[in-house]
Amino acid sequence: MEKDLLSFSNDKLSVDFIKKLGVDTSEDILDKLILLYAENNSINVRREIVSSIGRQSNKDKIYIFIKDNIYNCGIMELVYQMFRTCLYNSNDDRFLSLQREILEYFDNEILYKMKAYYDYRHTTHSKKNIDKIKYPILLEGDNTKTLKKIKDQQVQLIFSSPPYYNARDYSVYTSYKSYMNMMKQTLVECYRVLEDGRFIIINVSPIITKRPGREFESTRYPIHFDFHKILEESGFYFVDEIIWIKPEYSVPNRVGGYHQTRQPLSYKPNCITESLLVYRKKVDFLLDKNISKYPKKFGINDSEKYDTTNCWYINPKSHKEHPAVFPDELCEKVLTYYSFPNDVVLDMFAGSGTFGRVALQMGRIPILCEQNKSYIEIIKQGYNYGNI
Ligand SMILES: C[S@@+](CC[C@H](N)C(=O)[O-])C[C@H]1O[C@@H](n2cnc3c(N)ncnc32)[C@H](O)[C@@H]1O
Repeated sequence: MEKDLLSFSNDKLSVDFIKKLGVDTSEDILDKLILLYAENNSINVRREIVSSIGRQSNKDKIYIFIKDNIYNCGIMELVYQMFRTCLYNSNDDRFLSLQREILEYFDNEILYKMKAYYDYRHTTHSKKNIDKIKYPILLEGDNTKTLKKIKDQQVQLIFSSPPYYNARDYSVYTSYKSYMNMMKQTLVECYRVLEDGRFIIINVSPIITKRPGREFESTRYPIHFDFHKILEESGFYFVDEIIWIKPEYSVPNRVGGYHQTRQPLSYKPNCITESLLVYRKKVDFLLDKNISKYPKKFGINDSEKYDTTNCWYINPKSHKEHPAVFPDELCEKVLTYYSFPNDVVLDMFAGSGTFGRVALQMGRIPILCEQNKSYIEIIKQGYNYGNI
């Protein structure tokens, strides 16, 4: 009967059947499952069989099954399922040493992550007492120094737009390498002050430097790609890339040359996008743990309108005293999707302080860092920030 069901082309039916079969932990069911594993070709069904085998009671047979099959099953999904069984039998030395063998053999990042998550869940963690910052703060000066005033994990969200490398007059970097090194120093501090498991969002886009002469080419820097590297090196992992899309009339015209000649290779499109790099502070627990710290339904966005895609269409904003400010709408979206009311939110390259102003309007507690005296004056005109 089970053979008929398992040869069904409909995987779902077979998976349901295996699930039911696996509830029974008698010896002959385990033998039957091992046989079915050998006879079946569907990955979904085999994965379910492995999962059901893992729930059986004869540990000796389970151990032999995994040892015999994990290295030659050829499908990582099945490897993960077998490794999961080893994790849940960590109280048995054989499974513990098998875990080590499997990790060494596959050297696979998902397996390492599974192990780290399992170990985290099965270790007692003492609750850290973190002083809550209760009022808005402005830190004046170089953020690689001023961020040191913030204690570990006092911040729940970071959103910032770093200075452009050589694109504007406030740039002071002698080379792209030194620019990236300085950005990394700031990110390392950001990692320290951000609460475990929370988000950092960096707004960047490629930039171009002027040609040093007509006989030389201008250089275009893929800043968003290079930020990926320094974000990862600082301890964050990639979650999403949100594309901020601007109207074409609002960006510099690059396509003019091609428009006139229509010559291949001379094509340079108008760039109407910027990236919002969404990363999370690396931890060995799920996001649910971060969410469950807040009361149920707290901070729920009850607006009918929300963004369903990673493309956000927002007009840029100009400011008479700052060359590159955030539009309020961009800050509103980031705060809505990535923070709760009363959270402490940081912009370490604050400029005119747009993010801080919007954060205050939305009931968050901003920390702003800025080193340029005239921009600091603009920030101060908006609100009476405190210091640490
Ligand atoms: C792109 S602007 C940010 C503009 C901002 N999003 C706004 O809405 O006004 C970057 C800012 O970072 C500041 N900055 C650059 N390096 C800094 C550093 N090491 N510490 C603090 N501020 C810095 C610059 O003075 C500049 O105002």
